[in-house]
Amino acid sequence: MNLVEKIIHSHLMQGTMGLGNEIVVKVDQTLSHDLSSVVIGQIFDAVQPEGIKIEKSVFYCDHNVLCTAAENSDDHYFLKTCAERFGLFFSKPGNGICHTIHCERFAAPGKIIIGGDSHTPTSGAVSALAIGSGGLTVAKAALGDGFRFRMPKVIGVRLTGKLPTGVSAKDVALELLRLISVKGGLGSILEYHGDGVKNLSMTERMTIANMSIETGATSGVFVSDEVTEAFLIAQQRGDEYQPMYPDQDAAYDSLIEINMSELVPLTACPHSPDNVVPVSQMTDVKPASVFIGSCTNSSYADIARAAAIMKGKKVHSDVDCVVAPGSHPIMQKLLQDGVLDILIQAGCRILECACGPCIGVGQIPRNNGISVRTSNRNFPGRCGSMDAGVYLVSPETAAATAVAGHMIQALDLVDPACLEAVSNEPITIINDSMLIPPLPYEERRNVKPVYGPNISELPRRGPAYERIQAGVGLRLGDNITTDDIIPGGSSILKFISNIPAFAEYSFCYVDPDYVKRAKELGHSIIVGGENYGQGSSREHAAILPLFLGVDAVIAKSFARIHKENLINFGILPLQFPDDDTYQIPQQGDELVIENVLESIKTGKFTVSIPARGISFPVILDVSDGDKELLLAGGAMNLMAGS
Ligand code: F3S
Repeated sequence: MNLVEKIIHSHLMQGTMGLGNEIVVKVDQTLSHDLSSVVIGQIFDAVQPEGIKIEKSVFYCDHNVLCTAAENSDDHYFLKTCAERFGLFFSKPGNGICHTIHCERFAAPGKIIIGGDSHTPTSGAVSALAIGSGGLTVAKAALGDGFRFRMPKVIGVRLTGKLPTGVSAKDVALELLRLISVKGGLGSILEYHGDGVKNLSMTERMTIANMSIETGATSGVFVSDEVTEAFLIAQQRGDEYQPMYPDQDAAYDSLIEINMSELVPLTACPHSPDNVVPVSQMTDVKPASVFIGSCTNSSYADIARAAAIMKGKKVHSDVDCVVAPGSHPIMQKLLQDGVLDILIQAGCRILECACGPCIGVGQIPRNNGISVRTSNRNFPGRCGSMDAGVYLVSPETAAATAVAGHMIQALDLVDPACLEAVSNEPITIINDSMLIPPLPYEERRNVKPVYGPNISELPRRGPAYERIQAGVGLRLGDNITTDDIIPGGSSILKFISNIPAFAEYSFCYVDPDYVKRAKELGHSIIVGGENYGQGSSREHAAILPLFLGVDAVIAKSFARIHKENLINFGILPLQFPDDDTYQIPQQGDELVIENVLESIKTGKFTVSIPARGISFPVILDVSDGDKELLLAGGAMNLMAGS
């Protein structure tokens, strides 16, 4: 077996491991953040379990930490009281980014972790099988239901060689995207192995595992070795180490080889992470802002290397440079070692330990501005602006660019020795002062979750109905992201718990008239192209359409997490059999689907357009378990009714 098969095999609750088979695996840990946890807290409060039923569950506050109005502070207090009531860890706002802290304090080799965030695979660096999902799925996993999915393909990513000085783990992730695109990993888990792995530090592995999801993959997992063990020992968790590796004769569904010695600094140009070219070809890019941080690149070594480049220099007068360390212990170490001093002296702004600019919670680029960032996504609207051009780069390239005022490779600015002097050893500071452990059971029972006035009820649909009659509310092309469906940015995300207010921003940058049209239609259908719902795991990209009366999304194909979210909230994810059929329904057409209940069972639907006297076939490609959920009107309907 390969490593992915070994971990799945050791956790199998239902099914057999053949490719495409529906399986259920036992879940060891869950994580979620303040955008995904409120839904989880609401579900817990509706179901009223005694407590979570797995090893560990953590609520993190790392996204909406600005709290420019009371809504988000209310959400955080709701989450704290839910964590106390139901036995979860609670990571306070500012403690750090969920994935960074989860790797530091909780993830361990061989565990299965389900997280309410698409970048949950970051914990794959520690040889855990970590998968992003919607909040509702996380809630079910935390309550001991396991995680249901189809046995994926396993793509072996064989890493050889050693990163040259000035080339970073981020360049490995970008090279993979250049090779296989944002769709190359669909339906697959990436397994990183090969002689080159031993040359990567744990935080470098975190960067690569983190961006596995950008290929469309379900997860990415590294083999474990002495580097993994040293990291866990530094975290005073050495007893959680276990060797995890594939059998010598393990097979993969396909194999990709990357010789790290041959890589050069790369950048992903607007507006997709797979639009990758060498930095050396982009020296005319002049950014107004540079951001060093995010769950991809906010480790001590990332920021220390950026500082090494900036030492004795100044950030260019045309550039605003911000730095956000990934966790409080990282911030503390940067402070102790004088790294913050160098950055401040160079003219950087130091932000708190959180997602921040990555999701447009602060530092939204100016109109038509260019921003060079170490984060992982550059979709329009992702960082709060539709027209900004975002380039994704390594911390080394970002720092050099901030100083030069135009995009530049680090070694065109500094001597290799200054980068080689930065230690790749794991930091040994443990600081759990902002990480609150679960209350003892006797104390929990008296706690009541406290709802702020902004937290609205979750919309629910009853069981599926026999006939759908609905207008096409929106017709879209390929690669629609969840940021297109509901964008980021602090002014929008502050409404995340208020469904009626949040729904007003649905597709706001794609079609400002959409919400009005959806409300006029009452019942509607969205038509999409390939890879519909890629990107962030934001389940509000399903909740808001449900609130606006969307009965079905018909697309050429779906991103995995979004399809799961649609099913959880009872929206039919239907697929066109081919491109010609996709051309048929137009915005404004009224569609009729008869025999919905039987069609869910067979997976074959006929959609008619009575006004044009035509009909066409569509497919429901889901598991038997998903069909049951759709017949019941979604998992939310089942759980809250139970
Ligand atoms: Fe935060 Fe990473 Fe998402 S920084 S916004 S968890 S991509």
